[in-house]
Amino acid sequence: MTTRIIGTGSYVPDQIVTNDDLAKIVETSDEWIRSRTGIGERRIATADSTSDMAAKAAQAALDQAGVRAEEIDLILLGTSSPDHCFPNGACEIQAHIGAVNAACFDISAACTGYVFALNTAHAFISTGMYRTALVIGADVLSKLVDWGDRGTCVLFGDGAGATVVRADERGILGMNMHSEGAKGGVLTCGSRSNGNFLLGKKPELGYMSMDGQEVFKFAVKKVPECITEVLASTGTPKEDITYFVIHQANYRIIESIAKRMKIDPARFPVNMEHYGNTSAASVPILLDEMNREGKFKPGDKIVLSGFGGGLTWGATLLEW
Ligand code: UT7
Repeated sequence: MTTRIIGTGSYVPDQIVTNDDLAKIVETSDEWIRSRTGIGERRIATADSTSDMAAKAAQAALDQAGVRAEEIDLILLGTSSPDHCFPNGACEIQAHIGAVNAACFDISAACTGYVFALNTAHAFISTGMYRTALVIGADVLSKLVDWGDRGTCVLFGDGAGATVVRADERGILGMNMHSEGAKGGVLTCGSRSNGNFLLGKKPELGYMSMDGQEVFKFAVKKVPECITEVLASTGTPKEDITYFVIHQANYRIIESIAKRMKIDPARFPVNMEHYGNTSAASVPILLDEMNREGKFKPGDKIVLSGFGGGLTWGATLLEW
């Protein structure tokens, strides 16, 4: 028995912010952003919270799967930008959709959040503890970036993607998850400084800070490694993979990964032109778009891979 994706859904806010819009608030240009990242525009949440968006994506996935909210045993939300420290975001989604029978918790693994959450759900389902789970990636990083820092604010967008997964004969074939906490400083966000009556100050929430080149080097090294690992662990030749659905951070990162792995870049779908880097939401949003366009056939082998703050990275190999 394994774990199969039986429904997908996604949601992005209506508000589009183009590169030209950003050139009005920081010193940048459409040409710089497009040529360095492949990003043309992104959605920015003005009314929706992280759990609002996640619940809309989750409901779309449930509708597609034909599963009632009460049938869900487990809700896992990959996010770095929950609405509150507690209740956790997964509990808030539970309340939105009425999944009264689910255990709910968040997975904090930055942009790798969805892949870690999917693999965690698979681990629970494989033991027989749970049968049906909602696995979601959602982030509103627009509330955590410094809108005066051109090195980061041009990269991110807000959104949510969700999948319903269930115990089945066909589905996940292999997975891995990795972390390197010692390198965590190259990509940090939302650091909370102490604040209390003894210190005489209130706690402060810090903005995102990133060493872009270090993150770039990390991604192009570690993503090929974890994909190679998941293929080797299941005895699957790379030629058998129909699509490599990779975290949508930067077109040049994906191009470099394809080149290193000697795989045609056409098998690495991209959509960051329209959404930017939506962090934990990027893999499930792209999965949902492709699924709704009818790109996946039963039996297709697909690799999912994420990388991000932590540092964290990992991969999942599944048969559709
Ligand atoms: O989910 C994971 C999240 N993080 C990532 O995916 C980040 C991975 N890294 C990257 O995608 C790239 O490193 C960036 C797109 C962030 C930057 O591209 P780069 O080719 O590594 O540029 P750079 O940092 O070397 O900067 C080159 C120049 C610098 O100016 P000088 O020092 O050469 O005068 C920057 O100050 O570009 C400047 N710059 C900008 N110029 C216009 C940095 N950001 C901007 C900007 N517009 N938005």
